[in-house]
Amino acid sequence: MTIQWFPGHMTRARRQIEEKLKLIDVAIELLDARIPMSSRNPMVDTILKGKPRLVLLNKYDLADPAATADWIAFFKEKGLDALPIDAVSGYQVREIVPRCRTLMAHKIEAQLRKGMNPRALRALIVGIPNVGKSTLINRLAGRKVAATGDKPGVTKGQQWIKMAGGEMELLDTPGILWPKFEDPNVGYRLAAIGSIKEELLTAEDVAFYTVRFMASEYPEAFRERFGIEAIPEDLENPDHVVEVMEAIGRKRGCIVSGGRVDLGKASVTFLRELRSGKLGRVTLEKPSQWLDLTQESR
Ligand code: G4P
Repeated sequence: MTIQWFPGHMTRARRQIEEKLKLIDVAIELLDARIPMSSRNPMVDTILKGKPRLVLLNKYDLADPAATADWIAFFKEKGLDALPIDAVSGYQVREIVPRCRTLMAHKIEAQLRKGMNPRALRALIVGIPNVGKSTLINRLAGRKVAATGDKPGVTKGQQWIKMAGGEMELLDTPGILWPKFEDPNVGYRLAAIGSIKEELLTAEDVAFYTVRFMASEYPEAFRERFGIEAIPEDLENPDHVVEVMEAIGRKRGCIVSGGRVDLGKASVTFLRELRSGKLGRVTLEKPSQWLDLTQESR
């Protein structure tokens, strides 16, 4: 794999976040609930320098709820409060302000003790591209203030968005972190959810990687969607993954002359169905695949 972690881009992004950090009390780290660790910049702890932080597991509507519960426990064990949300429907978005207030409770109490009137808490959303930062900001603002999708946003002066009747204010431009995908597992998982450019990894490689994980974790999805009753054993054997891909291709009519399955087309179809949630709610990594918040995946 020839993916690079561009140092120039990294330094620029880091500086931009550091500028914003001076303005805020609490950081809101947005992750993708389907791949919480792979969608997380491993240097975020250093970058946020001990700011109180709330972790949001976004796109919960697409993630496996049981796996999300395991991830929440994992983050809790590391001292981080994590909340699953869906920025599109707004599920649990109202919980964000109370959670941030709890994180800041000692500061608020200290201000009250000194007879000060606590001012609105100021927050910043940070996360890698495509985790839903703009969608969440727009939902919290109740109008379109941040550009969604991967079109370049129009740069304008920063503004504070009032939340919960003025108790908290959110910076209207997010801090953009970069994904780190030198670890092949992370690269494949980011590609599986459609978070890194298609040209970096072939659809076939990504689909094969994903099928290998999912066929053992979510066999029912293969039965229900593709009529695959028996998943071959030992998916470490590439021939067995090919068997599953061929069955998917046959089911979806991805056939070329001679009756062979077009594995490229089958892969694209499989990934499209996965990303749109047609294969059910799926989480593509487990806490047990990670040692801690900084180490590489297993
Ligand atoms: P970013 O600012 O972090 O780069 O992400 P952005 O808000 O642009 O969201 C990226 C994509 O993720 C958008 O889809 C957005 O609709 C989708 N999204 C954000 N939050 C959620 C969520 O909680 N659940 C689901 N299912 N999707 C979410 P898009 O394909 O770019 O646009 P569209 O599908 O809205 O047309």
